[in-house]
Amino acid sequence: MDKLVIQGGNRLQGEIRISGSKNASLPILLASLMPEGDVVLENVPELRDIRTTLKLLTLLGCNSDFNGPEVEISAGNLVPEAPYDLVRTMRASVLCLGPLLAKLGRAKVALPGGCAIGSRPVDLHLRALERMGATFDLDSGYIIGTCKSPLKGAHITFDFPTVGGTENLLMAASLAQGKTILENAAKEPEVVDLANFLNACGARINGHGTSIITIDGVPALNGCRYRVMSDRIEAGTYMVAGAISFGDVLLTNCPVEELDSVSAKLQEMGVKVVMQDKGVQISADDKLSCVDVVTLPYPGFPTDMQAQIMALMCVARGSGVIKETIFENRFMHALELIRMGANIKLSGQNAVVRGGKKLMGAPVMASDLRASAALVLAGLVAEGTTEVSRIYHLDRGYESMEKKLSKVGARIERVSQ
Ligand code: EPZ
Repeated sequence: MDKLVIQGGNRLQGEIRISGSKNASLPILLASLMPEGDVVLENVPELRDIRTTLKLLTLLGCNSDFNGPEVEISAGNLVPEAPYDLVRTMRASVLCLGPLLAKLGRAKVALPGGCAIGSRPVDLHLRALERMGATFDLDSGYIIGTCKSPLKGAHITFDFPTVGGTENLLMAASLAQGKTILENAAKEPEVVDLANFLNACGARINGHGTSIITIDGVPALNGCRYRVMSDRIEAGTYMVAGAISFGDVLLTNCPVEELDSVSAKLQEMGVKVVMQDKGVQISADDKLSCVDVVTLPYPGFPTDMQAQIMALMCVARGSGVIKETIFENRFMHALELIRMGANIKLSGQNAVVRGGKKLMGAPVMASDLRASAALVLAGLVAEGTTEVSRIYHLDRGYESMEKKLSKVGARIERVSQ
């Protein structure tokens, strides 16, 4: 297993290019098994989760050719089974349910286990698909879904604006008979990107980006060429990298309005965020202040940026409370930051961060994707050497992080353990 070894203390200066979005690419790749014709996707990032999704597409009977950042997909004779040993490595595999039920009327998908950040059930996906005529059995850890005839449009209200649930239903409803209305739908930009992709394939989706989405089913979808959006969470992570190192970085190929809540929170802390033609310019000095943060569904502050802003608050002045409302166990990074000298008190869904501390380098362990990013960020500013192990978590969602950071002056290297 690899680890990252970081010598803290360098101010980051220069340009970082943001890659394509992991969380838009995953559903769009799985939706690509639905069209009759070939699909070409641009701006797809080179990530472990992308490779896992391409492996899943192969198992489902699709051919794919990944010449990063372009992917070509053609759906062959589809096989409706997503095996456990693949699904357990990436719970987003459950997003093949909607496409398989829409195309074949049946699906056998391993029930995704929980993960480090929570139990992450898929009950909202299944209930909504049942409203469209699907039936589900659970057999030896697999969800067996069938629908006797094509799925039927339905009026569905989600208990919670689930991102994955909205995505599964967008895909299923695109080929259903009649109209589907999704209420309390997720508004995340990645959901909008999936809807735009499906519309480019001939689907008839309206209202995406709001909480009420309508889908008029069509008999078939056709292939297309589509450019996936840039990754707003990767961009937010590098905004924090620029701030925590008291540096000055320009992020290019960067989404802008999708970062409003992150930019606003960083500016509240005293970070300078300037939107330029070429991208987003981030600069900061060592007079940042802690703030209060509540993670919320989009357009609120994203849970996927919670670990990163916690790392930044550790070195800012004053104190702040971070409330995590989306996942039940997403403070694992706090325990590792405390080992680096951070002053963080956890209580249920709240973390009280008392900043103004000098972080000391230490050997730390990544537990999930965004936690590992937070530990790298802390290592950039910590005194001495920080070793982040188990960085296979990081490789799931960040393309060549150590290369992008080295390019702007970080002392960071990947070492095989
Ligand atoms: C997506 O996960 C993202 N993953 C997550 O990013 C992100 O944190 C999350 O949305 C919230 O924004 C991908 O897009 C691949 P949800 P998803 O369904 O779809 C509960 C990262 O770091 N829930 O909106 O799983 C669930 O337990 C990852 O890139 C149910 O109870 O998120 C959670 O507490 C981490 N029943 C909350 O809702 C359900 O049927 C949010 O889940 C579905 C969800």
